[in-house]
Amino acid sequence: MDGTKEMGLRNVSSTCSISDMDDFDLSRLLDKPRLNIERKRSFDERSLSELSIGFTRGGLDNYESTYSPGGRSGFDTPASSTRNSFEPHPMVADAWEALRRSIVYFRGQPVGTIAAIDHASEEVLNYDQVFVRDFFPSALAFLMNGEPEIVKNFLLKTLHLQGWEKRIDRFKLGEGAMPASFKVLHDPIRKTDTLIADFGESAIGRVAPVDSGFWWIILLRAYTKSTGDLSLAETSECQKGMRLILSLCLSEGFDTFPTLLCADGCSMIDRRMGIYGYPIEIQALFFMSLRCALSMLKHDTEGKEFIERIVKRLHALRYHMRSYFWLDFQQLNDIYRYKTEEYSHTAVNKFNVIPDSIPDWVFDFMPTRGGYFIGNVSPARMDFRWFALGNCVAILSSLATPEQSMAIMDLIESRWEELVGEMPLKIAYPAIESHEWRIVTGCDPKNTRWSYHNGGSWPVLLWMLTAACIKTGRPQIARRAIDLAETRLLKDSWPEYYDGKVGRFIGKQARKYQTWSIAGYLVAKMMLEDPSHLGMISLEEDKQMKPVIKRSTSWTC
Ligand code: GLC
Repeated sequence: MDGTKEMGLRNVSSTCSISDMDDFDLSRLLDKPRLNIERKRSFDERSLSELSIGFTRGGLDNYESTYSPGGRSGFDTPASSTRNSFEPHPMVADAWEALRRSIVYFRGQPVGTIAAIDHASEEVLNYDQVFVRDFFPSALAFLMNGEPEIVKNFLLKTLHLQGWEKRIDRFKLGEGAMPASFKVLHDPIRKTDTLIADFGESAIGRVAPVDSGFWWIILLRAYTKSTGDLSLAETSECQKGMRLILSLCLSEGFDTFPTLLCADGCSMIDRRMGIYGYPIEIQALFFMSLRCALSMLKHDTEGKEFIERIVKRLHALRYHMRSYFWLDFQQLNDIYRYKTEEYSHTAVNKFNVIPDSIPDWVFDFMPTRGGYFIGNVSPARMDFRWFALGNCVAILSSLATPEQSMAIMDLIESRWEELVGEMPLKIAYPAIESHEWRIVTGCDPKNTRWSYHNGGSWPVLLWMLTAACIKTGRPQIARRAIDLAETRLLKDSWPEYYDGKVGRFIGKQARKYQTWSIAGYLVAKMMLEDPSHLGMISLEEDKQMKPVIKRSTSWTC
């Protein structure tokens, strides 16, 4: 056992003040001997029933008593897999090397990973920066490999950046806003390092990244969960950082919905793609970060106030999402038959969606068994597109009920050709074309049909799919997806995204050596190898919440 492993455990006190009421409880693991010998069994040898973490009785408990807690694989890279009984895929070593090359240092300390190191690309744009969202899978890879230091440094550096005054022209941004990205400027003569950050004021389109703060909170929990080091989240700086992020999204206004109103381009999809309003990508991250914050906020005077607000918001948000964003065969049929112009509380068609606005493709796409959270819901507008990140995060955060989670996996299986094709995973489905593309994207040449954010395939999403598969007890789906990625990723030099209806072509303007494609692959591999890592990024169904009304066939099958 190496030093890093032990370090993580030493800081854990049994009387922690951070309550982790709703999910994998790390403290329970601490008195149990860690049987690393178990890791010698290959993942494939384990029975499927063992893999149904969260959904089958005892699944999780089995893991927790058998495996080391998430984050303590502790093996030196790339030897991680060599200690197992099966031969590691040759890509794993290459991926670790590439990931290490992407590390960015500030005054000698590792603080993050650069978005892409593509020497062949003519324009660097901002790909030489550390993006908060892009670092997330890198952080998981390091945590899973027992290297939490870089993650801690990153959390503290970005927290420091949050404290900066942020302006776009003469307008001051909210205090809690987290940067989309930052860069370390090295002065070789003066031998100094300085930081610059982008909160949206330099970003194409000048949009603030709503997702950054959410990823930050979710990562703080993953770090805490993985290392057992509660002291970081408990610092007054981290507590304040969380509260500032939360006050941005819990403030009262003219909203009639508990969902968070957003500008287009405020997430991973960072250019105009018609996701303004209440995009699923943000709502799922919002929900997850509220739950993560709830488990880490102290019950002191300031913390208590936020805890109360979070609990109320979660209650409403969960209901709203599960009821109005959920689409399956039955629900589609109901919307198809909706009456319009209903007034008063008795309205069935609450948002006055006109059935004629349902796009033709949904009728073919919707399987009899299966369902998903649609892209957006607002007055008279439903965006029926499928978004991978939002649906995977809905599973991981338990925004989806266990039945809904199963239905999402059913949909992925039955629409494999469309959603996975030759390269996992389509960021959104289907693509927007012709006139609609002109109006919705503003004629964006990067987001042409089946490219980039407009129906492109993003290897980084593999880790989210894998995590969702493990959580729902369907690892064979992840295995299939990883096999596909392994036929291409290394050979193609780890592209940022693929183009085409089935994702066969390296993306038009895709960077090579895109760090999150590399890290996403490693995380997917490590999770399949040791599913107990899932605990870092998964939250169990809140037992106090009653399941929502059953409405459709796919919820029950
Ligand atoms: C692109 C992606 C964005 C990512 C950035 C850096 O702009 O759309 O999600 O963070 O590249 O990789």
